Amino acid sequence: MILLETHELTKRFGGLVAMDALDIEIEEGAIHGLIGPNGAGKSTFFNLVTGVLAPTSGKVVYDGRDITKSRPHQVAAMGIGRTFQLNPLFGDFTVFDNVATAHHLNPGSSVPSIYFNTKKHRENEAWVRKNTEEILEFLNLSRVKDELAKNLPHGYQKILGVARALAIKPRLLMLDEPLGGMNPEEIAFSIGAISQLRDRGITVLVVEHNMQVLSILDHVTVISFGAKIFDGTPEEVRRDKTVIETYFGGDDYE
Ligand SMILES: Nc1ncnc2c1ncn2[C@@H]1O[C@H](COP(=O)(O)OP(=O)(O)O)[C@@H](O)[C@H]1O
Ligand SMILES: [Mg+2]
Repeated sequence: MILLETHELTKRFGGLVAMDALDIEIEEGAIHGLIGPNGAGKSTFFNLVTGVLAPTSGKVVYDGRDITKSRPHQVAAMGIGRTFQLNPLFGDFTVFDNVATAHHLNPGSSVPSIYFNTKKHRENEAWVRKNTEEILEFLNLSRVKDELAKNLPHGYQKILGVARALAIKPRLLMLDEPLGGMNPEEIAFSIGAISQLRDRGITVLVVEHNMQVLSILDHVTVISFGAKIFDGTPEEVRRDKTVIETYFGGDDYE
């Protein structure tokens, strides 16, 4: 089943075509990669799908519904979670509290119920603590849960961004450059964590320019200047010399 698809998705910024009639189909349960060099339109795609930007033309369909005009909070409520390239964390909060506070979309946590500390609110808080523990365990963050977010190594901060996105129990999780700025050990840790998401039945869209991500992808779409230049399996893209050499400079991705 196709969980997310776009039809001729187009975004212009003045004279610049940042997204050029992109058609993409993401299978439910897959880890799908959207890769391309800097400036290719990856973050633009992200923002179009999540309702942060409105497309100039074209359509976004999620689970059979046209969500082209949906706002970010509506998209989140429909089960699309995301991380941000600049990974906004609460540096002075612990790892645990960063994930716990990311549950705010939960309908149980309305302001009046917090104020009056109702039974419903207390039950909700217990659920949030349990779910937070589970997410941290699942992403191997339990042993750093009491650390302040700002004291974590960069790679762990990125995974903490994923942990926060999981709080809304997404059906589709979109990750913007999850390997950006990581050292090899952090990359290995993150690749392991991302592939575990699929084992939980979460569909994952990974936007990345680091080709190392290919090892965990089921399917990959390559874009350049906002347009699709390749769509297929990681094995196929590895054999496509034009894609590798023209758009990735070859030797960056040994
Ligand atoms: N808000 C904006 N206004 C004008 N141009 C933009 C804006 N956002 C992105 N762009 C341009 O659109 C192109 C695609 O950018 P982006 O989606 O950020 O690429 P990527 O994430 O692949 O590096 C770039 O040329 C960028 O300069
Ligand atoms: Mg980007």
